[in-house]
Amino acid sequence: MPTALLHGGSTQSGLQTAAPKFRTQLSANSLTPFVDPLPIPEIARPSGFRPSPADAKVKLPYYRIAMRQFEGKVHRDLKPTRLWGYGGPLQGPTSPGPTFETRSGQGLLVEWVNELPDKHFLPIDHNIHGAEADKPEVRAVVHLHGGKTPPGSDGYPESWFVSGKSGVCHYPNQQDAAMLWYHDHALGINRLNVFAGLLGAFFVRDEFEDSLELPRGKYEVPLIMYDRIFDLDGQLNYPVSPDAQKPWVAEVFGDALLVNGKLFPYLEVEPRAYRFRVLNGANGRFLHLSLSDGHKLQQIGTDQGLLAAPVALDRLYLAPGERADLVVDFSELGGRNVALKNDIQAVLQFRVAKATNGIASARPSSLLPTSLRPVPKIGESSAVKTRSLTLVEVDDLKQRPLTMLLNNTHWSMPVTENPVLDSTEIWELVNTTDDAHPIHLHLVRFQILDRRNFNVTDYWMKGTVRYTGPAVAPDANEAGWKDTVRADPGMVTRIIVRFEGYAGRYVWHCHILEHEDNEMMRPFDVVAAR
Ligand code: C2O
Ligand code: CU
Ligand code: CU
Repeated sequence: MPTALLHGGSTQSGLQTAAPKFRTQLSANSLTPFVDPLPIPEIARPSGFRPSPADAKVKLPYYRIAMRQFEGKVHRDLKPTRLWGYGGPLQGPTSPGPTFETRSGQGLLVEWVNELPDKHFLPIDHNIHGAEADKPEVRAVVHLHGGKTPPGSDGYPESWFVSGKSGVCHYPNQQDAAMLWYHDHALGINRLNVFAGLLGAFFVRDEFEDSLELPRGKYEVPLIMYDRIFDLDGQLNYPVSPDAQKPWVAEVFGDALLVNGKLFPYLEVEPRAYRFRVLNGANGRFLHLSLSDGHKLQQIGTDQGLLAAPVALDRLYLAPGERADLVVDFSELGGRNVALKNDIQAVLQFRVAKATNGIASARPSSLLPTSLRPVPKIGESSAVKTRSLTLVEVDDLKQRPLTMLLNNTHWSMPVTENPVLDSTEIWELVNTTDDAHPIHLHLVRFQILDRRNFNVTDYWMKGTVRYTGPAVAPDANEAGWKDTVRADPGMVTRIIVRFEGYAGRYVWHCHILEHEDNEMMRPFDVVAAR
């Protein structure tokens, strides 16, 4: 029986029971909104070609991307902010970093170079596994989230390297068109490296997507969103616990929600349909996005690509790590301003130009294809194994969270999840905590089967799941290919996964980075069939 205490305090909307201490915090709402244009990250440029590790006769585009510290303006009225970002030889650094553009089956190589300072500027907790005092403070390793990537290039959390070193990754991109993203994954300090700015977008395109004639070029815009806390000097303010010896906090929620690295930017749009590629890149905040005028959002894709059909949403719920592919039709909004809101906060303003003869709507969303990309259902009967995996919060005697566990195992314990290559499994995520946890598996794409309430107290007493309600199908906008799933509190969330691609060691984890860093991450092995 697990010995963990049941968890009491934290909720999505608030901070945990013991409130972390802040330096004098800037109130983001005191800033004048919509004074900066929305930045669009530059497209990453290769610096040449190199032989493919898979076949030396094939030459692949080769990118050299360095991580560096720099100062960036997040708002007109704030002093420049110290950030960590990514940049090419002639670009950046920026945060978010440059956007990769590639096509399905077109592999590429990236040499990720650590040129960061030797000292971290955010508070490391040396009690955390992998971040002990004998480890270098600044370590980095890049993971391509959503990439079907060989194990040696996947950014294993222990494969970090220090300043002055680099690592070359091979991304074969043999997968459907989708918005992937890259971010830091260094064991024990991942939350700090990403908070400092180490993330960026990565698009895979394919012919199927082309054939749909969705808005493209300047009509397709990435929206990379994450919340931060700033101090009055415009500097990042990562919260710490009241215990100076143990600075880790279980969740970080900032009031400053950035879009593509700016606070409350605006975007001038034409009265026509746009495609927005939204990423929740936050450490821990779940987004609830809507348009201020009540117009619906049309969602056409999810983490791993296009949905079978568009889904009209009043409000989009997006957990950390998840992506949404949206189409917004401004054709009836000529001459007006509309805001994209997160809850009640307007975070991005669209300034819609007046309709003139010159700019007519090229493709109103009423003309969106009614069917997009078929998503063939993986039959439950094809699963050769079902794993029941618990999500557990361990609290101290004052009900403060100490650590978060998957299946009551720690990162350093022997591998317990070892699916066979090309086999299908069902993973039941038994969430015993009071919080939703976005669970992400590297390498694979999966489908959500259902979610179902169970009696948590019973579970702790007897170790068996007693369901207390019917199984609930995933939301319409989750019924596509996913790589991150919201495991809701007090529910068993079932996913079905085909372990395709490569044999080798990968990880699965909660995408709340504070949880991931504090043990809510486990290795898994895809083993070759024998
Ligand atoms: Cu966004 Cu382990 O990844
Ligand atoms: Cu990933
Ligand atoms: Cu979590």
